[in-house]
Amino acid sequence: MKNPIQKRIDLFLEEREKSGTFRSLREVTPISASRCEFRGNVYVNFSSNDYLALSKHPRIVEESLAWTEKFGASSSASRLVCGTIPECVGIEMEIARWKGFEKAIILGSGYLANCGAISALAGRKSAIFADKLNHASLNAGCIQSGADFKRFAHLDYENLGRFLRNSQSEEKLIVSDTVFSMDGDMADIEKLYELSEKYNAILYLDDAHATGVFGSRGEGSSLDFADDKSRIVAMGTFSKGMGAYGAYLAGSEKIIAFFINACQSFIYSTALPPAAYGAIKAGLELVQSAEIRLSAKKLIEKSSRFVSDLRVKGFNCGNTGTQIIPLIFGDSMRVAGISEKLLGDGILAIPIRPPTVPEGGARIRLSFNAGHEDGDIMFLKEKILSLKVD
Ligand SMILES: Cc1ncc(COP(=O)(O)O)c(C=O)c1O
Repeated sequence: MKNPIQKRIDLFLEEREKSGTFRSLREVTPISASRCEFRGNVYVNFSSNDYLALSKHPRIVEESLAWTEKFGASSSASRLVCGTIPECVGIEMEIARWKGFEKAIILGSGYLANCGAISALAGRKSAIFADKLNHASLNAGCIQSGADFKRFAHLDYENLGRFLRNSQSEEKLIVSDTVFSMDGDMADIEKLYELSEKYNAILYLDDAHATGVFGSRGEGSSLDFADDKSRIVAMGTFSKGMGAYGAYLAGSEKIIAFFINACQSFIYSTALPPAAYGAIKAGLELVQSAEIRLSAKKLIEKSSRFVSDLRVKGFNCGNTGTQIIPLIFGDSMRVAGISEKLLGDGILAIPIRPPTVPEGGARIRLSFNAGHEDGDIMFLKEKILSLKVD
């Protein structure tokens, strides 16, 4: 006889099938940032987050291999036990300088960083104010913290201000993505900082999709305007624009010491494999180079031209201003069909459906990268323009 959990699982899966939101794994072999192999065919890949086409860059591959040869395939212990090799501390100092903070630490992934850092910063007596479209890992950290968790309307800072004004909590934490992962639009960081000052809150920023792409040093969102950075915690990932893996938390010396002592996902998880540190080290050098800065600039220019052309034809690309381009159609079944049609044309463009995006917000999420040639983009545009817009 099935137990209640098994029954719930059956129901859940049936529901997903019925609503067109059932997820299954695709076996995709990366060939380059812009090409992949899928079901035996080569596709132009518009779904990868390898924004600067660095994941196969010879410097990154070479450094990653060198670290494996020197230190082995595993870090063999958590950071606080014996998983902190001296070279790793050097990289963390470089990240702090690059981001303009006193200190930084590297964690296993962005998901781990967000869950661990937010649930350390906030507790039952705190109140968290989070943008409604924040990434799932930020929400997971907020829920895990046990704090009073309030979500303000997306990018609506008047709504946020009202929440802050009415809050009785002494401990306040504002949490936001800087570039929103499914919409490609951007938070107004200066406004968020201003509110954090006004209401004496800590500001936690997830810079995952800005890292490598934005900033004069590729450091992501610039925080140079902030007079008091001690109230900011900046988080970013190395797995997207940096072509590597892992994440960082940057902040004041005190906050980073606090994370080393209180962030569970940092303390109770094995350090990244040496290969990942090697890749991060090379990625950091590369994103600061003039060549990659130019490539990032061109990436944003070509993304913005594409969006303008589609908007003129009536497509809903939301408010993107970045390399992430949503094509919002609304209906989950419809986007699944569009994605299949694009596959038939040789384009990998994955449908994103609820619960990853709000009900009625199903979309094709395109992400442009530096490896896409003008011809790839023209081809994509032609195929999209042949779709019917409602
Ligand atoms: C905004 C944002 N934050 C955090 C993460 C998690 O990062 P990671 O993939 O390194 O776990 C993602 C991943 O997709 C993301 O989009």
